Amino acid sequence: MRNKIVAGNWKMNGTFEESTNLFNAISERKDEFPKSVEVMVAPPYLYLKSLKDQKVDDVVVAAQNCADKEKGAYTGEVSVSMLKSVGIKHVIVGHSERRIIYGESIKDVSEKVVLVLQNDMIPIVCVGEELNDRQKGRHFKIIEEQLDSVLNLAPELFEKVVIAYEPVWAIGTGETATPEQAQEMHRFIRQKLSDIYGQLVQTTRILYGGSVKPDNAEEIFSKPDVDGGLVGGASMNADNFLAIIKAAG
Ligand code: PGA
Repeated sequence: MRNKIVAGNWKMNGTFEESTNLFNAISERKDEFPKSVEVMVAPPYLYLKSLKDQKVDDVVVAAQNCADKEKGAYTGEVSVSMLKSVGIKHVIVGHSERRIIYGESIKDVSEKVVLVLQNDMIPIVCVGEELNDRQKGRHFKIIEEQLDSVLNLAPELFEKVVIAYEPVWAIGTGETATPEQAQEMHRFIRQKLSDIYGQLVQTTRILYGGSVKPDNAEEIFSKPDVDGGLVGGASMNADNFLAIIKAAG
């Protein structure tokens, strides 16, 4: 019922040449993508236009972030309308690296989500608890708080939102949530969203992220509320990324 999404988050890695080569290596194999899987990559801002201009329809080019303001004197920031003007339609918002390293608050994330939606684009909203939250049994509460950034939207805007559950303790650590832990949290997220948006959430894609690899992807993606993955490290290698895409098929 819900098509899966497999999105690669390249973070701050790769020169222009390396990123172009990686993009080409992935898109050359688009015939191998399962029909039911939407494939996405999120390169650094600087490469977005060039990769987008290659017009590979089967590989969606997404941004990793955006500014929380529309325009103006915000040195170093990139606005949603700038992204839109080069053809970008999808934006990752509230990644834990943005929240933790750059101090983005739930309010900042909410503002970004609204700007993305108002520009008729799609936010991929990341939520995730840190290790000590889970150890103290606070993980559901933390996720519930972070979901606040998508709880006050008009239903026709909410409809476009994609969620990514990324437990911080599993990002780049080689440690994944078990498929059961992922399913438990995805179920919880869908339930919380359905309290507000009702049946609409049946079509909401909830991705899992955190050390997704070719050898664990299939089991995680097989869970009923897991609708694909947001992949960091393993998306930087075309063979591994392809294997993960196929695991979602
Ligand atoms: P990872 O990163 O796959 O390298 O753990 C995931 C992410 O941060 O989106």
